[in-house]
Amino acid sequence: MKQPDKPHQVHIETFGCQMNEYDSELVRSLLRKAGFELTEDRERADVVLMNTCAIRENAHNKVYGHLAELKAVKDQRPLVVGVLGCMAQNLKEELTEKQPLVDVLVGPDGYRQLPGLLTKALHAGEQGLAQGGLAVDLSEYETYDDILPERDGGINAWIAIMRGCDNFCSFCVVPYTRGRERSRDPEGVLREVEAAVEAGHTQITLLGQNVNSYRSDDWDFARLILAVAEVPGVQRVRFTSPHPKDFPAALFDAVAGHPNICKHIHLPLQSGNDRILELMNRTYSRKEYLDLAAHVRSRHPGIALTTDIICGFGSETEADFLDTYRLVQEVRYHSAFVFKYSERKNTIAARKFPDDIPEEVKGERVSRLVDLQRPITAGLNRDLIGQTLPVMVEGDSKRSPDQWMGRTDTNITVIWNKSDAPASLGSIQPVTILDASAAVLMGRRHSTATLS
Ligand code: SAH
Ligand code: SF4
Ligand code: F3S
Repeated sequence: MKQPDKPHQVHIETFGCQMNEYDSELVRSLLRKAGFELTEDRERADVVLMNTCAIRENAHNKVYGHLAELKAVKDQRPLVVGVLGCMAQNLKEELTEKQPLVDVLVGPDGYRQLPGLLTKALHAGEQGLAQGGLAVDLSEYETYDDILPERDGGINAWIAIMRGCDNFCSFCVVPYTRGRERSRDPEGVLREVEAAVEAGHTQITLLGQNVNSYRSDDWDFARLILAVAEVPGVQRVRFTSPHPKDFPAALFDAVAGHPNICKHIHLPLQSGNDRILELMNRTYSRKEYLDLAAHVRSRHPGIALTTDIICGFGSETEADFLDTYRLVQEVRYHSAFVFKYSERKNTIAARKFPDDIPEEVKGERVSRLVDLQRPITAGLNRDLIGQTLPVMVEGDSKRSPDQWMGRTDTNITVIWNKSDAPASLGSIQPVTILDASAAVLMGRRHSTATLS
């Protein structure tokens, strides 16, 4: 039996996007303040929390798999199980049926209630939601502005500048799991940037479902990102994701004009066909997207564009798909994340457009795009051979502790030998590219090279 004076140990597992990573850091901070301890070791934990994602069916399946594992643990010993995040919000009914396995269910706007609910669940003799509880009300105001997240080490700090999304792309569950769009105060964001730098982070990544619609009084996203880039100690600023529908000139100028703002834009396409884009409620046409991509390229030669694409949205014909295929050929992205359409409960598409493309056809379209993109990525990477690029040192390479892993400004991974020259984590080093594949650049840090 646990001694009453010993703090309870909480283990958190995070699924989904960077916003969820950030939220887990907020949760850690909230729990620590309430007297809980955090552990990496699930075996030692009194509480296991899963911060879940609902974006596609396979995200759900992963969580159900982990819940089955936790059931086996819970059959052996006392354990409080909490489900947090987007799936907790969207699937409260199904998850409530998982009683008594799930003790606590908390959506993205309910984390302030989490310590109280866990305490209740831990002190209850029996288990289940009746003893723990739910916090699944979405808020129009919650931004957790006063909470400083507890980050792992590492050189990057995620910082959410806004929460929720008002775009209602017809395929997407996020407006239902994260509620209405709201921006944080710029002062709060800048305070958090300063604290992150103080803690040793040299790269800041600003997060939002649609960062370019950030607005707080007379602050827009361009003004905010410039202010972040000016905070002493910030060496690199990244952001994800902007929506192609509103990309203001001031943002181009900010990205082009500031050396600390990385020359990489993730510009989710979803489809290259006008009819499908309309059904998806993306509010831009193929031509508008292509014009935007061409404009970005003309303003910043060498900028990296990456994207997200969905294959097999309801009613997508082979000809519609070929529009996407040809657009990918034309734009030559640095990389593309390609997904099979996955119908999400409650979305506009689930109500209005039958999910009528067979899974094999969706899968085959995904493969064709992946096969198209791989050599484009490899070719763009090979073009860098011979150049000396500024690379931020991020950590040990996965292959060997004798090699560094870092990233170019354009977000491409570079590997080089530590023995080339001394370097410190988070510093920017001049690395000459010797070889390239679609996955990685191999380089050398010449001890005499400098950054121009
Ligand atoms: N707010 C971000 C998207 C976050 S979700 C943006 O608009 O850029 C990340 C990606 O998941 C989306 O860009 C989309 O390509 C994919 N996605 C979202 N819903 C999906 C669904 N129902 N089926 C398949 N892929 C989906
Ligand atoms: Fe989803 Fe569209 Fe909002 Fe992105 S912009 S989170 S795809 S609704
Ligand atoms: Fe992110 Fe998944 Fe939610 S992608 S916003 S955790 S549905």
